[in-house]
Amino acid sequence: MTMEASAFPGWEPKILAFCCQYCAYSAADMAGSMRLEYPTEVEIVLIPCTGRFDVILALRAFEKGADGVFAAGCLEGNCHFLDGNIRARKRVNFLKAELKSVGYEPERIEMFNLSASQGPRFAEIARDFTQNIVGLGPSPAKKL
Ligand code: FES
Repeated sequence: MTMEASAFPGWEPKILAFCCQYCAYSAADMAGSMRLEYPTEVEIVLIPCTGRFDVILALRAFEKGADGVFAAGCLEGNCHFLDGNIRARKRVNFLKAELKSVGYEPERIEMFNLSASQGPRFAEIARDFTQNIVGLGPSPAKKL
């Protein structure tokens, strides 16, 4: 399923989803197994834990052409590395402020928490996030 980007002809959003190997990746896998539709523009990057999702990784994603980036990890209290998802949320909030200060919309980066059994929720997150990015248009880096 691809998203229409009619306001920007020829542009297709590039979205990276950094999913922890436990809950979020399993949820994404379940969404696939259930044949739930979500945008093909969402590219999943498997990481051990969202605690691994750091500022450098996120900025590199934008530098390499991502229009939107999200981290998806276990529910709060269920991180397999204790507080990786809490640290990731702090980093995402930090990045939102930093991106805003350089002209990016803070909505281009988000953090989500879900359990391994939430395949439908993963598909919903992927659809909603992609729709939001389509509404924002190409990354400011692409408009230069
Ligand atoms: Fe899933 Fe840490 S193991 S967020």
